Order: sequence, then structure tokens, then C-alpha cells
Amino acid sequence: MPKVDDYLVGIDIGSAKVGVLIGQPDGTGRVEVVGKGLAPNRGTRRGNIVNVEQTVEALKQATEEAEVMAGVDVSRAYVGVAGSDIRSVNSRAIVSVARRDREITRHDIHRVLEAAQSAPIPSDREILHAIPQEFSVDEQGGITEPLGMLGSRLEVSVHLTTGNVTRTKTLQTCVNRAGIEVVEMVFEPLATGEAVLTDDERELGVLLVDIGAGGTEFALFLEGEVRHSAVLPIGASHFTNDLAMVLRTPFAEAERIKTQHGCCLPSLEDDGAGVKVPSVAGGQQRVVPKRELSEILNPRAEELLILIREDLTKNGHDDAFRGGVVLTGGGAKLDGLLEVAQDIFGCVVRFGLPQRLGGLVDVISSPSWCTASGLLLYGHAAEQQQGLKRRSMPSVRNLMNNLKSMFADLL
Ligand SMILES: Nc1ncnc2c1ncn2[C@@H]1O[C@H](COP(=O)(O)OP(=O)(O)OP(=O)(O)O)[C@@H](O)[C@H]1O
Ligand SMILES: [Mg+2]
Repeated sequence: MPKVDDYLVGIDIGSAKVGVLIGQPDGTGRVEVVGKGLAPNRGTRRGNIVNVEQTVEALKQATEEAEVMAGVDVSRAYVGVAGSDIRSVNSRAIVSVARRDREITRHDIHRVLEAAQSAPIPSDREILHAIPQEFSVDEQGGITEPLGMLGSRLEVSVHLTTGNVTRTKTLQTCVNRAGIEVVEMVFEPLATGEAVLTDDERELGVLLVDIGAGGTEFALFLEGEVRHSAVLPIGASHFTNDLAMVLRTPFAEAERIKTQHGCCLPSLEDDGAGVKVPSVAGGQQRVVPKRELSEILNPRAEELLILIREDLTKNGHDDAFRGGVVLTGGGAKLDGLLEVAQDIFGCVVRFGLPQRLGGLVDVISSPSWCTASGLLLYGHAAEQQQGLKRRSMPSVRNLMNNLKSMFADLL
């Protein structure tokens, strides 16, 4: 099969599955999905690779499926990264513009971005993203492009996302062993946000919550940029575990029961209806009322969402999401979760599905495909910006990649 560089590839190595999407930019700014591959993944737990062989196998299987569907060979890809080792911090820096004309130059912007790296980063971590949020010139904030403005003091705030060097390398090794070059590792909520959030939500303030099998990533977007992000080691598999433990049923049965009959809001369930639950030792099956199932699932749902709310409060973002909350990832499919989230966050909550893509959209219309879809969109935006960069002066967003390599040099 020919290798075609005009295609974009997004790879989501999740704890439940590896999802591969191949997209083709249609020339009008849109990306058409032309290939999709999915394989169960037993080599990754809570976002961390625990078995390289199994992860590589899943990757190869999913990639081959996508390649056959699209009729192209995958050679390079944008790869999602998550896991409890990911940390995000906001860093600020100020420089003075001492020249007489006080006109801010590209050099001043580089100086202030360089100064923003003074946030202490341990040597076992590397920067995945360094996203300029806004510039201030003298006392005026909210500036996205200070080039050419007049002022004596230039300030920047940057959102830094770092990951553990060894874990990132392991992920890269797995992708390379499947014969694929990594174009960029992308912190998953940033990619997912591209696929599920509207521009208005990002501007107004929105909390994106991706409940995967092994963990939950969340990111707060405000005024168009990410302001806060974090990963919690609680995901959809914990709900399954709770059912398995309390009902003393095998994990696979608990998973089936959860996905077919699970609900985490007891008031939505009537007392009468029951679900057949096999016992672990293959003994007699019992009939458990659905309300009882929801009483097992509810505390986990509340725990997860309250932990997110507490993290936001701790970081001073209590009322920063006027655009509401968007739930995505396979775990978001649990009945009743939307209502529980509405209660805990006290705002509008909706489900997030992949948007903005064309082509085979019907086959990826599930919260489990949001990350891979977002990786295509992220890659498309990054490559368009690089194209623009070659033709014109870079904007603030274009500086992201420069800034990242600048930090890497300084580590
Ligand atoms: N109807 C449903 N109700 C509740 N949970 C569901 C439902 N359907 C799928 N899930 C859960 O979704 C999870 C898979 O979601 P997803 O594909 O987003 O995970 P992942 O991306 O592989 O994992 P991670 O992001 O943690 O690495 C499974 O744990 C599954 O139990
Ligand atoms: Mg995921």
C-alpha cells in the first residue's frame, strides 16, 4: 500500500482499547475520517503501559484494520498520552522592554516565554505542552498577540503539562515497534477538547471530563485556552470492580451488568425490576433489584465527581465553567451520571461526542472515539499552523512548539 503523507493519523492507546483513526484533510479546512481500527488492549492499565508486547499487538491489530479501510499505510501518527503521572502547572513570567521606542518585538516574546520555564520541573519529567494562555502589556491583560504593541513591561502566563520521561519513552517505543513514527504526543484532554467542545464553550468556560476505563482526565478551558488540567486514577473499571466485589460476581459479568443495566442514580430505578447475577464460583444465580445495583454504583460516581470539584476549588476555579460540563469517554455512558454531575457541579451538563469531522462519522459516534477524533483535529490544526508559519510571522499559538523545544533544551 502506498504511504501517503497527506493523511493524518490519531492513535488513542486506552486502558480498554487501542483506537486508530485515519483522516484526510479535504482542502477546505475539514478532515474526513477514512479509516478506523479498534482492538482490545490488555497491555495498558490506568493509562500506563504494563505490558509492551500486548500493547504493540493491539496497536498493530487496530492499525491494520484502519489501513485496510482507508487503503493507505500508516507511517506517522499523533498519539494520545494520559496516566496518573501527568501534571499540569501554570507559570507566569515578566520581562521589561527597555528600548526607547518600547515596541514589543519577537525577541521580547521569546524572552518572556523563556522566563516562564522557571517553574521547578524535576529531572525525571518532560514537558508535553507549554501553552501560552495570555500576555499582559503593562497593566492590560487578555492579549493574545503582543507583537508590535507599545509597553515597558511584558508578562505571560503559560500552562505547562509534564509527563514522566520513562513512561513517555515506553509509549513511544510501543508505537515505533508497531512501525509508526510519533509526530507528537498529545495530552489527551487537549485533543478530546478539539473534538467535543464548541468555540463558545471554550471561550465562556467549560469543564471537560473524560471517563476512560482506567482513569479520568479533566481539563478546564476558559477564554479559548486550557487553564487547568489533571488526571484521577479512578475510571469506569472501578465501577465494574465495585459491582463485582459487592455482588461477588466475575469481573466480566459485572462489566456486562453495568453496561446493560447499570445506573448510578437510585431514584431513576423502580423497586420491581431485577437483573440475573451469576456467582463467582459458578453457583446459583441471584436476581438483584436494579435499585440495589444503582446503590452500589452511586457512591463511586459521587466520589469521582466530588474529587474533580474539590480539585477545581483547590485551584481557584470554582465558578469558571459558565459554559457547563461536558462528560465523555466510555464511562460517561453510565445511566444517571449526567444527573449526578448536574447535582454536584450545579450547572448544565451534556455528553460529548466527536464533532467537526466528516466522512465515516457514523462509525465513530461514541464517547470512546472522542480522543482519537480529537487527535486528528489537533494534528490538522498543528500542520496548518506549521504551513502558515512557513508563509508568515508566527502567532502566539504557533509559538507553542517553539516554546516546547526551548523548555526541553533548558531542562
Ligand atoms: N454503557 C456503559 N455504561 C457504563 N460504562 C460503560 C458503558 N459502555 C462502556 N463503558 C465503560 O467505558 C470504558 C471504556 O471507555 P474508553 O474507551 O473511553 O476507555 P479507554 O480510553 O480505553 O481508557 P483510558 O482512557 O482510561 O485509558 C470501559 O471501562 C467500560 O466499562
Ligand atoms: Mg481514554
